[in-house]
Amino acid sequence: MIVYTDALEGVQAEQLKGFFVGWPNPPSAETHLRILQGSAAVVLAKEADGQVIGFITAVSDGVLSAYIPLLEVLPAYQHQGVGGELVKRMLEKLRELYMVDLICDAEMEPFYARFGMRPYHAMFIRNYDRQSGAALKS
Ligand SMILES: CC(C)(COP(=O)(O)OP(=O)(O)OC[C@H]1O[C@@H](n2cnc3c(N)ncnc32)[C@H](O)[C@@H]1OP(=O)(O)O)[C@@H](O)C(=O)NCCC(=O)NCCS
Repeated sequence: MIVYTDALEGVQAEQLKGFFVGWPNPPSAETHLRILQGSAAVVLAKEADGQVIGFITAVSDGVLSAYIPLLEVLPAYQHQGVGGELVKRMLEKLRELYMVDLICDAEMEPFYARFGMRPYHAMFIRNYDRQSGAALKS
């Protein structure tokens, strides 16, 4: 049975295997754990054994705005409603904020529209040499 939680207590890097599918230079499981710990809000989908099979993160100023940078469900668990449940639970956690934004491909717009989100324009920078999130050498 899949359980959902916003608690990171007890989550280990070993329980974060298999994410960032298709990323050329993905964060390690240890870096993934740092990402979760550094986020303003997270929701995890977990198997009974504690293995994480889906996650969503938000960063926020805690006053007006939040941004949802990452949402992923492991391929073997997709198309079963897990991703939608993660979005629903995250939007509920952020409901008292004014702005909740994310960037997605146009093909994903119907998925997010299910939760009342509306399409708009976005601008972005990607420093591809920083994709893994590895510590910078001093
Ligand atoms: C997007 C993602 C989190 C959805 O997770 P999920 O558990 O399969 O989500 P749900 O089961 O709640 O919803 C699935 C629906 O999302 C939509 N969807 C998922 N991926 C899609 C894609 N690449 N293009 C268009 N629609 C997509 C479809 O409507 C799909 O319906 P279907 O199951 O009938 O095909 C998952 O596909 C994933 O991890 N993708 C890789 C990472 C990613 O793209 N993250 C989002 C960045 S904006």
